[in-house]
Amino acid sequence: MNIVYGVIGGIVALFFLVVLRGAPYLPSRRKDVALAFDELYPLGSTDTLIDIGSGDGVVLRQAAARGARAIGFEINPILVILSRLLSLRRPGVQTKWRDFWLTPLPPETTVVYVFGESRDIVKMAARVQSEANRLHKTIWLISYAFDIPGLQPTRSFRAHFLYKMSPLQSAKP
Ligand SMILES: C[S@@+](CC[C@H](N)C(=O)[O-])C[C@H]1O[C@@H](n2cnc3c(N)ncnc32)[C@H](O)[C@@H]1O
Repeated sequence: MNIVYGVIGGIVALFFLVVLRGAPYLPSRRKDVALAFDELYPLGSTDTLIDIGSGDGVVLRQAAARGARAIGFEINPILVILSRLLSLRRPGVQTKWRDFWLTPLPPETTVVYVFGESRDIVKMAARVQSEANRLHKTIWLISYAFDIPGLQPTRSFRAHFLYKMSPLQSAKP
């Protein structure tokens, strides 16, 4: 019995400890995501979407259903397993056990999806900007529930905000 309590306690602790590295688990509403990919940024087969903090993979499956490649970085190993199980029938979905702060975006990234929190949202946008600079390419950032202070969205639709992160020129010495 003690083992069972230990396992349950460990799982609960895992979900709480995540807040040290980012937003706690709360899934995006599937209908909102579907509308965002239809109305805000029409996702298609030429896109590679990265969900930084991908939870159970609901966003990844919606992206793959539109023909996009979809990769999730998720820090909580239980959610990684759940996402992989729920996405078995979606071949375009990959869920990786990663801390997004420490993981470079793949060069083929076209869109980053984030459902963060007010504490981190500016830092998360800055991270995507620095990856756009490193990769020398424009990356579209979709933020759910939070607009990003100091940045002007290209468009918004209901609870989603779309930002164009163009690579910044570095000053010549
Ligand atoms: C608000 S949930 C959003 C889940 C999913 N993106 C969605 O929209 O349904 C945030 C997720 O980010 C994960 N997370 C938090 N910090 C992280 C980090 N540093 N690296 C990877 N995942 C992280 C949490 O475990 C949680 O699943």
